Amino acid sequence: METQVAPTPRAVWYQTYGCQMNELDAELVLGDMARRGWSRVEQMDEADIVLVNTCSIREHAEDKVWSLLGRARQLKRERPDLKVAVMGCMAQRVKDAIVDRAPHVDLVLGTTTFRNAVQDLDDLFAGGGTVVRTTLRPDPLFLPDQDRNVTVRPDRFRAYVNIVRGCNHACSYCIVPFTRGREVSRTVEDVLGEVQALVDDGVREVTFLGQNINTYGCDLGSPLLPELLAQASTIDGLDRLRFLTSNPFDMSEDMMARFGEIPKVMPWLHIPAQSGSDDVLRRMKRTYTVDQYREVVGWARRHIPGVEITSDFIVGFSGESDAEFEATCNLVREIGFLQSYVFKYSLRPRTHAARQLPDDVPEPVKRQRNVELLRVQDETAKQRNAALKGRRLEILVEGISKTDPTRVTGRDRSNRLVHCDGTADLAGLMAVVEITEINAHSLIGRRVAHEDVAGAWSLRPAVGA
Ligand code: 5AD
Ligand code: SF4
Repeated sequence: METQVAPTPRAVWYQTYGCQMNELDAELVLGDMARRGWSRVEQMDEADIVLVNTCSIREHAEDKVWSLLGRARQLKRERPDLKVAVMGCMAQRVKDAIVDRAPHVDLVLGTTTFRNAVQDLDDLFAGGGTVVRTTLRPDPLFLPDQDRNVTVRPDRFRAYVNIVRGCNHACSYCIVPFTRGREVSRTVEDVLGEVQALVDDGVREVTFLGQNINTYGCDLGSPLLPELLAQASTIDGLDRLRFLTSNPFDMSEDMMARFGEIPKVMPWLHIPAQSGSDDVLRRMKRTYTVDQYREVVGWARRHIPGVEITSDFIVGFSGESDAEFEATCNLVREIGFLQSYVFKYSLRPRTHAARQLPDDVPEPVKRQRNVELLRVQDETAKQRNAALKGRRLEILVEGISKTDPTRVTGRDRSNRLVHCDGTADLAGLMAVVEITEINAHSLIGRRVAHEDVAGAWSLRPAVGA
């Protein structure tokens, strides 16, 4: 008589690097593993599977992966049955180098071919050899976003939803078009089905993701982001919608007006400017000028009441002069960004800049400009937030603050980080906070009201009243 053998439970340790889409991709794989009965462990040495989700955006991101793979190699010497899986942008970009330099890696999965990871690992445990699967055109049976296990996610009340993968731009510094290929949009119905499933599981805030989100739908025939947001906003139980990342080149005043008409679309846009100098933008092949960037911000402010803008900047790009850097500092002050991420230029192989433009700004200058621009940004954020003292902001409480157990943390409508008094039972509820203290990266305040779980509001008497 044949007996059925129950599948072996496996322990997975994972680490993800890079952008929000990468975080989500790792969650998709973990969701598949959870369905299979595999569980996560916090320590690498407790794992049967080490999963590394990689990023190629800067050399530093890749260096971190090489050193992690070194740790996994040590562990595998002690435990030869350990399986090591590498996925993401670096797996896509340098699969051959991974196989050469890290022969202990068993599974290499690219940016669109990671959803058969569980099957691949089963095959490996059954005795199969190294698998490398990095075509940019995935098997239609294993599309990266299909059939997500929505119950596996790091946050109970907020979730990311991917809507478009890849990027059709060709910014001269950027590796993403090489690692994630051309734009491929999901259909509106497909996305809405996932949002509904997340909301049914308790999610109140959804952030749509795309490397270049404003062209969502173009590969299907027409730009569909406003339409998707309008339809998603009709879902009961969903309170907040956000999306990123916006390329200023692909935004129009009409699109901005549509965003402004949808109350659940939060007044926050992440629109990377990259530089405040027209000459640098031209060398970066960003396809817009500083004036055009200003115009986009003007449309946002005209049509989306209370909107706040955040940005990315690269400092020390090829040929960047002191004056060009100064122009970037001035743009930060002029626009009044709420926050900016600042990166030192890192030359990426195969890009236009790698082939045509020297990486000629010395490292110490890059470092100094990085520090300086962050200083300008912090000052700008403080000034921008100063007027909020004494004002009331609505936050969605995420949970206990990581730095102060007597406080809870949440995000306001414009995505500001806000701390206020409260306990863990407020997680997932809206609260109104009167702001008492302004910092560059967060605000502190006193809770004056909050929702209960049934959605009713209760007022909280002022302290000492
Ligand atoms: N070097 C430094 N920063 C980069 N970015 C993209 N490519 C590079 C690079 N080669 C930055 C951009 C982008 C953010 C995600 O990373 O600012 O918006
Ligand atoms: Fe890194 Fe860019 Fe790939 Fe995201 S898309 S993982 S930021 S290289």
